[in-house]
Amino acid sequence: MDSFEFNKIAGATLGGCLFLMVLGMFSDAVFSRPHGGKPGYDLPGASDHGATGPAATAATAEPLPVLFAAADPKRGEASAKPCVACHSFEKGGAAKVGPPLYGVVNRDIASLGFAYSDALKAKEGDWTYDHLNSFIQAPQTFAKGTKMAYGGEKDAKKRADIIAYLRSLADAPAPLPAP
Ligand code: HEC
Repeated sequence: MDSFEFNKIAGATLGGCLFLMVLGMFSDAVFSRPHGGKPGYDLPGASDHGATGPAATAATAEPLPVLFAAADPKRGEASAKPCVACHSFEKGGAAKVGPPLYGVVNRDIASLGFAYSDALKAKEGDWTYDHLNSFIQAPQTFAKGTKMAYGGEKDAKKRADIIAYLRSLADAPAPLPAP
């Protein structure tokens, strides 16, 4: 084989390699997309470092004092519209379908002159922020058999607003929950 022949073969081989390299890079670029967002393995806690990790879970996990810090009684008044059908909110307000709610924060549960259900009468203690939060979220879960025919407010932020509003309905509003 003369040197011209050799050069042709070498050139073709190199050209082929180059072509394969470019093809490889191209196909990497195309086919690695689906894994692109998450290089490496899923280790426990790994997502904590991601920009979206904590924010994405915070909405459900935020404790009441944190939600309360951002709560707004004015917004709560608007979110409490469904309650108005059954409850009075003003001082000295009468019972409607449900008992009056002025001053309900830290009031003894089922303690007014109202025909409470046995379910609510059986509950011990006061309407703490936690109790109110659970009751407004899912009345039947908090007190199975309660007469309060209300499906519950599932949005934790709206609940915090509503409770902040209830808190404002008092001669001396109760202290905020400690963080
Ligand atoms: C369809 C009518 C209805 C709606 C709507 C309703 N409630 Fe009630 N609520 C009642 C009744 C009836 C009771 C008494 C429950 C029992 O005895 O089991 C009650 C009881 C309560 C109590 C206990 C008060 C006490 O004296 O122990 C709280 C707190 C309360 N409701 C808050 C709310 C809030 C806040 C909302 C709106 C987010 C709301 N309710 C919506 C009917 C309603």
